[in-house]
Amino acid sequence: MGKYIIAGNWKMNKLPSETFDFVKEVAEATKGAECEVVCCTPYVCLAPAVEAAKGTHIKIGAENMHFEEKGAYTGEVSAEMLKDIGVEYVIMGHSERREYNNETDEGVNMKAKKALATGLVPIICCGESLEQREAGITMDWISIQIKKALADISTEDVKKVVIAYEPIWAIGTGKTATDEQAEEVCGGIRELLCKLYDCDTAKAVTIQYGGSMNAKNCAGLLAKPNIDGGLIGGASLKSADFAVITAAAK
Ligand code: PGA
Repeated sequence: MGKYIIAGNWKMNKLPSETFDFVKEVAEATKGAECEVVCCTPYVCLAPAVEAAKGTHIKIGAENMHFEEKGAYTGEVSAEMLKDIGVEYVIMGHSERREYNNETDEGVNMKAKKALATGLVPIICCGESLEQREAGITMDWISIQIKKALADISTEDVKKVVIAYEPIWAIGTGKTATDEQAEEVCGGIRELLCKLYDCDTAKAVTIQYGGSMNAKNCAGLLAKPNIDGGLIGGASLKSADFAVITAAAK
């Protein structure tokens, strides 16, 4: 459906001094991948990551950004700054940032609009808690998150967006959604996009699954028709594992 994209989310791992060599290692290991391969790194690792990615197929992403253009926002980094150093992707609305940094759907929407206006690809995360899944409100919850995140984003722009479905109970827990559970929600997101925009537009959007995707379980997940890639945490920190995942995305 959408373009296949496998994006690593390093989270707060790897030092700037390790980054150049590691991105080179990922580039070598994932050579021949038929999908887009992205490494999303901490801010301080971005410059060496971009440097290492030059002349390779690897794209670099940030793990966050601020929605304002510039100004008195101590400690923040703008979309323009990311763009300026050669960053192409930016994660937003990750459940860890929602939990620890008060990130809201409204904030995600502002970030997404700013990223798109700046020429960055937003990777918008959504996902339900275990309680929500058990209460049977998964799709209702995800629909609210997506509608709010995409408010006022045009049909042209939404085609550039990546949506990452990451059930919170599957992140970093080793407990992956089954292929069917992941497909059900990713398909539901596609249907929602079909209603919010139109079905051709919905088909153009990349919808990733994330949450303990690894070298062992990636093939089944990526074979599902509505799963166009993955957002990979733990397994993106080992180039060999990450390479198995990128090879499965075709
Ligand atoms: P995980 O993280 O692969 O370590 O579960 C995924 C994510 O949070 O993006």
